[in-house]
Amino acid sequence: MSVTGKVAFVTGAALGLGKAFCKILLENGAKVFMTDVNEAAAQVTLKEFQAQFGVNVVTFMKCDVSSKQQLEDAFKATKEKFGGVDIVCNNAGIGGETDPLWEKAVDINLKGCIRGTHLALQYMRQDQGGRGGVIVNMSSMAGLNPNPFGPVYCATKHAVVGFSRSLAMFPETAQNGVRINILCPAFVDTNLVSSLTDENCLDVNKAKIFAHKDGLMTPDYVAEGFLELVTDNSKNGAILKMGKTFGKVYHEAARA
Ligand SMILES: NC(=O)c1ccc[n+]([C@@H]2O[C@H](COP(=O)([O-])OP(=O)(O)OC[C@H]3O[C@@H](n4cnc5c(N)ncnc54)[C@H](O)[C@@H]3O)[C@@H](O)[C@H]2O)c1
Repeated sequence: MSVTGKVAFVTGAALGLGKAFCKILLENGAKVFMTDVNEAAAQVTLKEFQAQFGVNVVTFMKCDVSSKQQLEDAFKATKEKFGGVDIVCNNAGIGGETDPLWEKAVDINLKGCIRGTHLALQYMRQDQGGRGGVIVNMSSMAGLNPNPFGPVYCATKHAVVGFSRSLAMFPETAQNGVRINILCPAFVDTNLVSSLTDENCLDVNKAKIFAHKDGLMTPDYVAEGFLELVTDNSKNGAILKMGKTFGKVYHEAARA
């Protein structure tokens, strides 16, 4: 599927990977509805994108993905602004291991992703007036492998893989023209990694060594994998692993 002229909705779009996903979508001719909880950072990114790509193809609305109401309002606003929704990336995510931050990590990384996927389906499914489309959910290599310094983070990312693959295999999803894919990067050079603390990981010193042991990918490199999951119509329920040492590899998941 070509992204030219398509409408994309991205959460956690102000910085890091979300920003890189918005950029590659804009470079390829999509219209982008950016959402993020960090309004100040998002406004800076929005101005940068509007200067580069034009004021009519990209907009921003503040949205905390842990708020059902805010997510519903943001999807509604996307349809009102751009006429529909074709591409959704449930990208917003945080680390959180100590009490009560771990509950926030579950709310954002898992519940935010589930809500965003349900809403995406509601707006895209052809039997409810949608045009079909593609959803990319952000997991991580921590969604496939253990991370001894982020067990809660790891649990949320495993859950994103299981949820997304299962819904991708549910017959009504494909019958309504919707694909769901999962992106699983290893460590990337973003604030998530540069801001490790004793709250968002276990044993911050060892966590830093673990995170840097294979080197960090750039967000722009990971965005190339993201675009592939969006554009390749043959990919549904696909899990794309990306890492500095091994590049881009599709995960062969066991099927029952
Ligand atoms: N950086 C990595 O090494 C790495 C690796 C694998 C997967 N990921 C995943 O990629 C995604 C993006 O992470 P990143 O590395 O770009 O992190 P980041 O911290 O650089 O950016 C995350 C963005 O999400 C936003 N955000 C946080 N809480 C939010 C909320 N409640 N509602 C809406 N937006 C919110 C932040 O304001 C920020 O703009 C996350 O899901 C993360 O788990 C990151």
